[in-house]
Amino acid sequence: MNPIQEGRVVIIGSGLIGRSWAMVFAGGGFQVNIYDIVQQQITSALETIRKEMKELEETRMLKGTLSAEEQLSLVSGCTDLKTAVEGAVYIQECIPENLESKQKIFGQLDLIVNNNIILASSTSTLLPTKLFTGLNHVKQCIVAHPVNPPYYVPLVELVPHPETDPSTVEKTHALMKKIGQSPVKIIKEIDGFVLNRLQYAIISEAWRLVGEGVISPSDLDLVMSDGLGMRYAFMGPLETMHLNAEGMLNYCDRYREGMKRVLKSFGPIPEFSGATEQKINQAMCEKTPADPEHLNTRRQWRDKCLMCLAKLKKDIKSN
Ligand code: NAI
Repeated sequence: MNPIQEGRVVIIGSGLIGRSWAMVFAGGGFQVNIYDIVQQQITSALETIRKEMKELEETRMLKGTLSAEEQLSLVSGCTDLKTAVEGAVYIQECIPENLESKQKIFGQLDLIVNNNIILASSTSTLLPTKLFTGLNHVKQCIVAHPVNPPYYVPLVELVPHPETDPSTVEKTHALMKKIGQSPVKIIKEIDGFVLNRLQYAIISEAWRLVGEGVISPSDLDLVMSDGLGMRYAFMGPLETMHLNAEGMLNYCDRYREGMKRVLKSFGPIPEFSGATEQKINQAMCEKTPADPEHLNTRRQWRDKCLMCLAKLKKDIKSN
């Protein structure tokens, strides 16, 4: 089978997320056109992608079956929107998280796209009804929210507008699977989608426990990284329940009252400021000072860990 796919993908906005999406699509064998309003951003994106793909190839972590050079030959840049989208099958918008800017770009796209293309937004927080309402091509619009860095963390939350055609959801789901991502369908839009709602629930209780002096900030993080996180890299909380007793019904029988009692003791939403903020900030800065150099070194370490975990998960699946 020819690993090069038919149809071209357009990435709109070549920052952190746009670059990563471009690499994911090229890994899947798609031609990728990167559009940005800043030429320098495109130039730097193409350079970064070349460097990263070469490094990934050396460490045998490059996605897909094509070589780095073959994948690089699929990626190009463009500063003219109309030329960029001509003949494309899928657009992944990755411009900054600002409602007016995103509405503006989708308004521009609405005037120039055909009736088959899919218009997807990478937004982390903006609801489809805010982004897409009133567009002529609303049936073809969807949020496809990645997790940073998308190259190593495959989850993509697919969130339709109420008027999004079901075929748009299905086609986007199939496309994401084809490029090796792990799409989930959010059936109806909700503030924070699902990943951030779960994340905020954890942050909220973590903040309270540290604020109330139950545990230190560094030990709190250890509870996740060496406790819950170990399992959660492989299975979710619901399957965990199922396995932690003789099935789900037995788990609920055994633990429902205890869960409800503990959950009732959760306090109000924290303010995320004041003394607890100072305390947590101090602990975090002792470990990683909050200057760009230290933060970047630690981010690189995180991405390396994620890369190893991604490889482990892939090996486990193929066994
Ligand atoms: P960024 O600031 O790194 O990059 C934005 C890029 O868009 C820049 O290259 C800029 O020149 C370009 N741009 C601005 N206006 C434009 C326009 N009208 N047309 C074309 N290009 C334009 O932003 P980042 O972090 O990559 O975020 C992009 C989107 O991805 C946001 O919606 C964000 O919420 C979402 N996202 C970000 C994650 C993260 O961790 N950074 C994670 C998941 C989603």
